[in-house]
Order: sequence, then structure tokens, then C-alpha cells
Amino acid sequence: MRIVLVGPPGAGKGTQATRLAEKLRIPHISTGDLFRANISQQTELGKLAKSYMDAGNLVPDEVTIAMAKDRMQQPDAENGFLLDGFPRNVSQAEALDELLQGESMKLDAVLDLEVPEDEVVKRIAGRRICRNDSSHVFHVTYKPAAKEGVCDVCGGELYQRDDDSEDTVRKRLEVYHTQTEPIIDYYKTQGLVTTIPALGSVDEVTTRALEALKGGSDGA
Ligand code: AP5
Ligand code: MG
Repeated sequence: MRIVLVGPPGAGKGTQATRLAEKLRIPHISTGDLFRANISQQTELGKLAKSYMDAGNLVPDEVTIAMAKDRMQQPDAENGFLLDGFPRNVSQAEALDELLQGESMKLDAVLDLEVPEDEVVKRIAGRRICRNDSSHVFHVTYKPAAKEGVCDVCGGELYQRDDDSEDTVRKRLEVYHTQTEPIIDYYKTQGLVTTIPALGSVDEVTTRALEALKGGSDGA
């Protein structure tokens, strides 16, 4: 299956993507995690991306699309993938369509995680991620690590993301509404979108997402 997860910052895209990817046996591709891996390895791409990410802006399309394409063309993604955080504007969605069409492939579903803004702010404020791998995600209240400050998965140090400061989160939400939300309409015209209410426990949201994938999109 080829799936896109959409939703505001802090909606739980990464949390759900990890679980769904494991169930569906497809790779979880997060452009945010790819950028953060480049930042920790201090690559040129990482340096460029950091300046945009810390300001809450989108990294330019040219480098983002090239990075996402490269990842989607790895052998493990041959039979499908779950995209988290890509595409993030209409031109990235068009680039993805072009890439898929070129290989006679298509998307199967777009899951839109819907969470009220006050909940998103709480989820982001308490989030802690692992220095070794930013896909290892915790929350001080909702998903505390067994030992405070230490990743349950790999023992790495837990920290708060640089772009999770109050000002940057406000900017990221604005960018989401102006640049990313339009892709929901873009995909609605293709009949691919299912809206998933993403309040409730992590398990409940996963169940709703799996149900939606089983039933196909509702075009809503
Ligand atoms: P990215 O890393 O993608 O950040 P984001 O979209 O802002 O989303 P988040 O990762 O903040 O939230 P999430 O939805 O994954 O939530 P999570 O599962 O962690 O992008 C960062 C930046 O990179 C962008 O701002 C941009 O600069 C750049 N970038 C990335 N992709 C790009 C692109 N395509 N083009 C251009 N630039 C790009 O959950 C949040 C917290 O809530 C966690 O602590 C979790 O434990 C908790 N939680 C999750 N679910 C629940 C639940 N059901 N109940 C209670 N708590 C929950
Ligand atoms: Mg994420």
C-alpha cells in the first residue's frame, strides 16, 4: 500500500506511522526524521534544513522533493510506503503524483488526522524525542519513558525538539493551515481522503486508521 498521513504538527503522525508501518510491513518515511538525521550528522542538507525548521518554515521544495524521491526509490519501498510529513504543499503533491505515474503506481489512501488545536499544543509541549533516532517519540504525561530522560527503545538521551518552542509551534501551525491543508482538497478530488478523529488513546486512533485502510477511502 502507498499511504500519505496528513495532520497538523503534533497530531500524532509519527506515532501512528510507526505502528501502521509495522502492521502493514511497509517503511515509514518521515521527511522531518530524514532532515533531523541529516542535522545530527551535520551534512550540508542538514545545515540548510535546520535554518528553515528552526523558524517553523518549510524546507525548499527542490531539496525536499529530491530527498523524498531518493528515499521512496530504495528497495524496501518497492511494495509500498507510508509517508509522514510529505507532501506538505500542492507542488510536492504534484511531484509525488508525477513520480508515481512515471512508475505506473498510485496512492491508495490519504489519512487526515484531525485534532483540535489546544490538544496539539499539549501534545507538542510534553513531547520528548531520542537523540539517536527522532522516530523514538515519548510524552511526559501521555507516554512517559520508563526512566526519565532515557529512551526505552535504545537508551539514547531524550530531549525537546528545537522547533517545539512556543513561537515556532505557532508559526508551524500557520504554515500548516496556509500551505499544507490545501493538499487535503487536492487529494479529495482524487477520492483518496479519509478523516480520522485523532483524539483518544494511541491504540484507539490506530484502530480507526486500520479500519479506514481496510474499508478504502470514503471520499469525504
Ligand atoms: P515534522 O517532523 O514532520 O513535524 P510536524 O509535521 O510539525 O509534526 P510533528 O512531528 O511535530 O508531529 P506528529 O504529528 O508527528 O506528532 P507525534 O507523533 O510526534 O517536520 C518538522 C519540520 O521539518 C517542518 O516544520 C519543516 O521545516 C520540515 N519539513 C518536514 N517535512 C517537510 C516537507 N515535506 N517539506 C518542507 N519541509 C518539511 O506526537 C506528538 C506528541 O503527542 C508525542 O509526544 C506523542 O507521544 C503524543 N501523542 C501522539 N498520539 C497521542 C494520543 N493519541 N494521545 C496522547 N498523546 C499522543
Ligand atoms: Mg512527526
